[in-house]
Amino acid sequence: MKKKHIALILAAAVMVLAGIVIVIKTINKKPEPEYVFTYAENQSDGYPTSMGAYYFASLVEEKTNGRIKILVYTSGKLGREADVVTQMRYGGVDFARVSLSQLAEFSPALNVLQMPYIYNDAKHMWSVLDGEIGDYFLNLVSEVDLYGLSWYDAGARSFYNSLKPIRKLEDLEGLKIRVQQSDLMIDMVECLGATAVPLSYEEVYSALELGSIDAAENNWPSYEDTDHYKVAHYFCEDEHTRVPEMQICSIHTWNLLSDEDKAIIRECADASAEYERKVWNERVEKSRETAIDNGVVVTSLSKKEISRFREKVQPIYEKYCSEYMDILNKISEQ
Ligand code: GCU
Repeated sequence: MKKKHIALILAAAVMVLAGIVIVIKTINKKPEPEYVFTYAENQSDGYPTSMGAYYFASLVEEKTNGRIKILVYTSGKLGREADVVTQMRYGGVDFARVSLSQLAEFSPALNVLQMPYIYNDAKHMWSVLDGEIGDYFLNLVSEVDLYGLSWYDAGARSFYNSLKPIRKLEDLEGLKIRVQQSDLMIDMVECLGATAVPLSYEEVYSALELGSIDAAENNWPSYEDTDHYKVAHYFCEDEHTRVPEMQICSIHTWNLLSDEDKAIIRECADASAEYERKVWNERVEKSRETAIDNGVVVTSLSKKEISRFREKVQPIYEKYCSEYMDILNKISEQ
């Protein structure tokens, strides 16, 4: 064969190969996303609710073949919880996971689900949230321009402080206790004889360190993840509340989506909630261990003391729940 023919054959082969590469690249190329949404989370990256958010975003991307991309912003980068809820009502943030305390400020009926001592234990809370009462409240947030997707776990909240071990009601007297920015939580702490100081989550560490507050209340993972255990060494496992958390979507975002996409998002939100509950339980144990290994003094309350605490907070049931007695009764019967 002449050299010229060999060169022509080689050139043709190179062109065919190049063609094949272009076709493969085109086939494999991910389409540009049709939607890019934001997701607000105020906990740090490795925290169970953030892990749930990342899982949710990756499932949605996978199930829509990249058509819907959700960018998760952790550590409060999109703002404090209360501001995030406000932004979402106007479409400024698309998705979030927030504490019910903040949502109840906009939709007061939700207070029912975070009343002190309303659940006997975690199992009781989940039987309520996973049932028709939980669904009713997920739907209720549409009255404030949100779409409720799923419930996340935030365990039980207990008091911790920098001054002394708490063993009885009188030990709380006069303590300056940080509470969430929620009227119900302010009233609860005041009923217990302490002074309530409403602050955002981000402000608690320095307030404890500087001594402008003596105490706060939260679950084990928050206490540990935020380093509060380094500045408040006394943790009383009184478990006065269980404040569930909700994964929500702005109604403006929700209305953009097709029915098919809505179904995918609901399915992914449920799967992420299941995942979060699993990692939550693992983290509670680890956080408790870390705190104790670092010298935290853990106390608990006798049954008699718990009933004294319960009795003290009864007035807030009248103030916040008188219109929802039927729901309260259903919860206690469950
Ligand atoms: C929990 C909850 C947060 C909330 C915080 C608080 O850690 O997960 O979303 O902001 O409580 O006490 O404010």
